[in-house]
Amino acid sequence: MDVTLLLLALGVIAAMFGVVATRFGFPGFNKIAQVALALALLPVICRFHRKLYIICKILPRDLKFLYRAISAEIEVKGQRRNNMTVVKIFKKRVDRYPNKTCFFFEDQVWTYSDINKYSNQIARVFQEAGYVKGDAVALMMPNRPEYVAIWLGLGKIGVVTALINTNLRLQSLIHCLRIAEVKSIIYTEEYTSALDDIKDSIQGIGRYKVCFKSQICESGVCDLNKLLSEASINEPVVKDEPNYRDKLLYIYTSGTTGLPKVAILPNSRYLLVVMPFNLVGLRSSDILYNPNPLYHTAGGMLGVGFAILKGIPTVLRTKFSVSAYWTDCIKYNCTAAQYIGEMCRYLLNAPPKPEDNAHRLRLMFGNGMRPQIWSEFVKRFNIKRVSEFYGSSEGNANIANLDGRTGAIGFVPLIVPRVFHPLAIIRVNNQTYEPIRGSNGLCIRAETNEPGMFIGLIKEGNALREFNGYLDKEESQKKIIQDVFVKGDKAFLTGDILVEDEYGYIYFKDRVGDTFRWKGENVATAEVEGVISNIAGKRDATVYGVQVPGMEGRAGMAAIVDPDSLLDFKTLAEGLEKALPAYARPIFLRIVKELEITGTFKLKKMNLQKEGFDPSKIQDKMYFLSGNKEYVEITPELYQEIISGRRKF
Ligand SMILES: *[C@@H]1O[C@H](CO)[C@@H](O)[C@H](O)[C@H]1NC(C)=O
Repeated sequence: MDVTLLLLALGVIAAMFGVVATRFGFPGFNKIAQVALALALLPVICRFHRKLYIICKILPRDLKFLYRAISAEIEVKGQRRNNMTVVKIFKKRVDRYPNKTCFFFEDQVWTYSDINKYSNQIARVFQEAGYVKGDAVALMMPNRPEYVAIWLGLGKIGVVTALINTNLRLQSLIHCLRIAEVKSIIYTEEYTSALDDIKDSIQGIGRYKVCFKSQICESGVCDLNKLLSEASINEPVVKDEPNYRDKLLYIYTSGTTGLPKVAILPNSRYLLVVMPFNLVGLRSSDILYNPNPLYHTAGGMLGVGFAILKGIPTVLRTKFSVSAYWTDCIKYNCTAAQYIGEMCRYLLNAPPKPEDNAHRLRLMFGNGMRPQIWSEFVKRFNIKRVSEFYGSSEGNANIANLDGRTGAIGFVPLIVPRVFHPLAIIRVNNQTYEPIRGSNGLCIRAETNEPGMFIGLIKEGNALREFNGYLDKEESQKKIIQDVFVKGDKAFLTGDILVEDEYGYIYFKDRVGDTFRWKGENVATAEVEGVISNIAGKRDATVYGVQVPGMEGRAGMAAIVDPDSLLDFKTLAEGLEKALPAYARPIFLRIVKELEITGTFKLKKMNLQKEGFDPSKIQDKMYFLSGNKEYVEITPELYQEIISGRRKF
């Protein structure tokens, strides 16, 4: 039998004996009994002290989370019960404070009423043109208040807006317009030539042009400025009103491989921004800074959703700018800001200036702040709270870091038993990323500190737990697994490898597809990129695996931006040796003038990967990690040695 339990039992018996003895007039026994009980409890405390300590430590966090999550959940239930839509809630805001600022943009101030009037005009123009609920219209426009007013207006008559990444051209632009089956596209003058280039492939798709600078409209193009100026600013009369479940937006997910996919955003999903609103702890007195592109979930849903649904005045900006960042925050008195991806590193990279902490930002929330720069960032810019938020446009697995734990993307509350969690980390095969199943055919939860795939359990009918999927049914199926923890249940595979520590904090390890195997080990590219960038003076770098004839797996290669050839290779090699295990250090380097980045500041690496390291094909200078010690330039001779297997590494 368990010694601890035996001692505990004996202690309890002794204590009871002591109580009885005292009752019958032998008070001396009481002392002895107390001591016995204390001694018996000692091993129990010793054994579980770690657990007890952890519980005490996380209790305030978990209680705060439960309170916020439950409030959000109640709000979400109410939205469903009342068949709410984004435009209905927005209308409530307009009625409540028509003259409150909704958006700041450059030197313009747009009140709730201004946005509403513009959106009414949009609704009327498209209603007049015969558009009905369920039709789709594409929108290609730089960030500005009209952008939001346009999709809100279309939302009033149930027309779905497909938000087009403004960087897209040619084949990918055609693809995006086609898969969403849009009837027309609304665009601004900067994209005229992009559309002219694909004219023959998009016949049948109507063109509505909005001009902000010039006033010229080609023949065959509808002049939206003119149509709007003739339309009434009053609420449109809508017979077939959109419902809670009806589609509002299409957002394209920027996959690292292949062409973009369309993620469906019904009203029910957009309304979920109340969840992060509660979780990250925004206040109704906040002013939000959002320089992110409005065609992505981050900037378009979280970044403007708080303005539309919660009445938070929001600053929009055509483009994120390092030099304007803090001066903007000061100018508009911002108290909260949204970040994405690499933005924080760009800011940290800029030389210090007085504006760095002359602003009033108290909260920054977003996605992708690297753990390596987190502390430095918070200190230099004096940000009280960084709230990293994890989620995807289509998925149902969302978590947030609400106590500012450095590096964590969120946590799961430990005081709630795991079977009630809608999220889990499961074991997966580390090459195929297929879930590993036990003898009962079900998935297995990863242990503490064991990396695994993050999944969200699907529950139909609950907006927080359902998976809205892609327009492409097959693509949707690929993301769903069955029989997860009980027969017949379903879960959404996020594709992200996360790890949970003993406090329940969750850390990002890797995104599937962003790893390669070398010397029998998995190398996480995001991690290596973080390290390189830190050693190499915050330069941009992208890491990928390249094939070497005769070698298994892929050798690590890093493309580093160094236009002025100032990179110190010796420091880099030494730093990498310190920071990374041998298998993770890049074997090859490629020095580039710039790196192509996607709209979310993710670096594109597919092409680099294909090009490899052949000096006869590539103009850029390339280097090889010789003897695991120093980088030497790759000459045609060295290249031959490497690919013929004469050079060992
Ligand atoms: C910012 O605050 C200052 C002082 O509180 C005020 O004078 C100014 O008008 C505010 N700016 C904006 C854009 O609201």
